[in-house]
Amino acid sequence: MSKYTVTPVDEAIHFGKDEIIVSKTDLKGRLLYANDVFCRVAEMTTSEVIGKPHSIIRHPDMPRTIFKLLWETIQNGEEIFAFVKNMSKTGKYYWVIAHVTPSFDQQGQIIGYHSNRRRPSDLGIAQISGIYDQLLSEELKHTNSKQGLIAGENLLHSMLKEKSQTYSQFVWSIGE
Ligand SMILES: Cc1cc2nc3c(=O)[nH]c(=O)nc-3n(C[C@H](O)[C@H](O)[C@H](O)COP(=O)(O)O)c2cc1C
Repeated sequence: MSKYTVTPVDEAIHFGKDEIIVSKTDLKGRLLYANDVFCRVAEMTTSEVIGKPHSIIRHPDMPRTIFKLLWETIQNGEEIFAFVKNMSKTGKYYWVIAHVTPSFDQQGQIIGYHSNRRRPSDLGIAQISGIYDQLLSEELKHTNSKQGLIAGENLLHSMLKEKSQTYSQFVWSIGE
């Protein structure tokens, strides 16, 4: 099973307001740990998940621009808050608001990454969906995928400049 063989279906998977979806990865984003809520919502067993790239739950509606920003931020040793639409094994979707952080050793070297996710508000989902739709269609306007990513980043920067917010600040402002 992989993100390329599952067809997305327009059906949400629900999880509770008091539940937290947790995962830990190595430096390449391969899953080292996933809690029970992660597995239940992703409709996968622990053994289906461990050792796989985090992109096994990638939803095709997600703009690449957001993952580029996520990776640049955490590889730089910083934390990020992000809205992510994920996809379960049967193609259902679930939105999360994720806090993604690097984990450090005693020498301050990054040794992996960690993410805690909660359920966002319906209003937050409605707001971010519109923005992600715009980013994705901007990316897809370009046949050259590199150019598409640059165009997506430019659009995101101009949206955030208008709001005088960083991406994480914007996520916080609409997240609750
Ligand atoms: C700690 C951590 C958590 C992540 N969480 C998610 C996630 O919930 N959903 C997701 O699609 N990608 C997540 N990613 C990003 C993936 O590694 C990957 O960049 C993304 O799915 C895009 O994959 P692709 O470039 O192969 O299309 C996470 C990465 C890290 C390091």
